[in-house]
Amino acid sequence: MTDKTKNTTNPLLCSTNKLKLGLFGLNVSSGCSMTDRPDTLKVEWAESVRIAKTADRLGFEAIIPVARWKGMGGKVNFNHRNFETFTWAAGLSAVTERISIFATFHVPTVHPVRAAKEVATIDHISNGRFGLNIVAGWNEREIAMFGIPQKEHDVRYDVADDWISLCKELWTREGEFDYNGPYFQSPAAYSEPKPIQQPQPALMSAGNSARGQLFAAQHADVNFVVAKDIAAAGAIAATGRRIAHEQFGRKMQVFGQAYVVCRETEKEAREFVDEYVNKKGDWEGVRNLLDVLVPNSKSALGDGWEALASNLIAGYGAIPLVGTAEQIVDGLCAFSKAGIDGLTLSWVNYDEGLKTFEDKLLPLMRQAGLRS
Ligand SMILES: Cc1cc2nc3c(=O)[nH]c(=O)nc-3n(C[C@H](O)[C@H](O)[C@H](O)COP(=O)(O)O)c2cc1C
Repeated sequence: MTDKTKNTTNPLLCSTNKLKLGLFGLNVSSGCSMTDRPDTLKVEWAESVRIAKTADRLGFEAIIPVARWKGMGGKVNFNHRNFETFTWAAGLSAVTERISIFATFHVPTVHPVRAAKEVATIDHISNGRFGLNIVAGWNEREIAMFGIPQKEHDVRYDVADDWISLCKELWTREGEFDYNGPYFQSPAAYSEPKPIQQPQPALMSAGNSARGQLFAAQHADVNFVVAKDIAAAGAIAATGRRIAHEQFGRKMQVFGQAYVVCRETEKEAREFVDEYVNKKGDWEGVRNLLDVLVPNSKSALGDGWEALASNLIAGYGAIPLVGTAEQIVDGLCAFSKAGIDGLTLSWVNYDEGLKTFEDKLLPLMRQAGLRS
């Protein structure tokens, strides 16, 4: 008998790889590194297609974009060019074969009746490979562009809870029904066709505050941890899984984030980081980013301004995997041992990073039993 509460379609949720992989930040200029180098992402359609097809061929489970509406100013105006993620995911779904393509969005910017239908549509285009990364919305300057006042941190998750509850009903209920939530009311609500993935497409979130973790535990198939090192990521993952199990009787995967700099020697790798972070990093842009992030996100604070800023420049807050191929695969094994189900990866140069992944990292990951 099939379990109707379990998504048996989405490639990320069905993957049997010990360490699942997502590619992060492909839809935003400069990707995940705030640096003035010429080989970061440009945000052109041909670039998105090329890199998505490569990730698909290499067996990555997912591509996860960033929801962004304007850049961070400073030297490179980090992320100022960015593709809208629902339409982008629809396009990439049509040109890929196996990989799960996600859209990332801020809850206050899309009405759930509209979103439920967009999700169902992309799920049909992708034949059940679509996923939704739900961001409650911390970026005040962006939300202001929509003329919406920023709500208090925990209330944003209450709105997200109501938002996704209406979507879930639209994805599963036949005929018309009245929805009366605290934030959304929808008389005679109706949505057809249903998504291919049932009971719902793969859902992802990145809540690390107590309220954010509760939201994830209740609704998300995958939650991201933001942590300063692998051990801390493992501990947060265990807490998130326990809340999902104890309070909601659910299983939830937990992902971390890593940025990769792989070179022949550790010295070369470290010199490259020094060059793109200390010499070519956008220190003015990162100051602008932190001015908005710190008061609005409860998960952003680390070991002081300098360390946090340098980590944001290097990999948008991800954990570093810097060194030789062997050192990087040791790090990947450590993530897995700490209880992390998967990672999103990013590089300064995505084409080059994926080539090294194919030639050097993937064979070692297979030997280590992380990937088939
Ligand atoms: C992997 C990852 C991806 C995220 N993607 C976005 C994004 O695309 N856009 C955005 O505004 N925030 C994004 N965030 C921010 C989170 O959604 C969330 O607002 C932040 O972690 C603070 O949540 P908290 O206060 O519950 O910990 C992302 C965070 C992580 C860890």
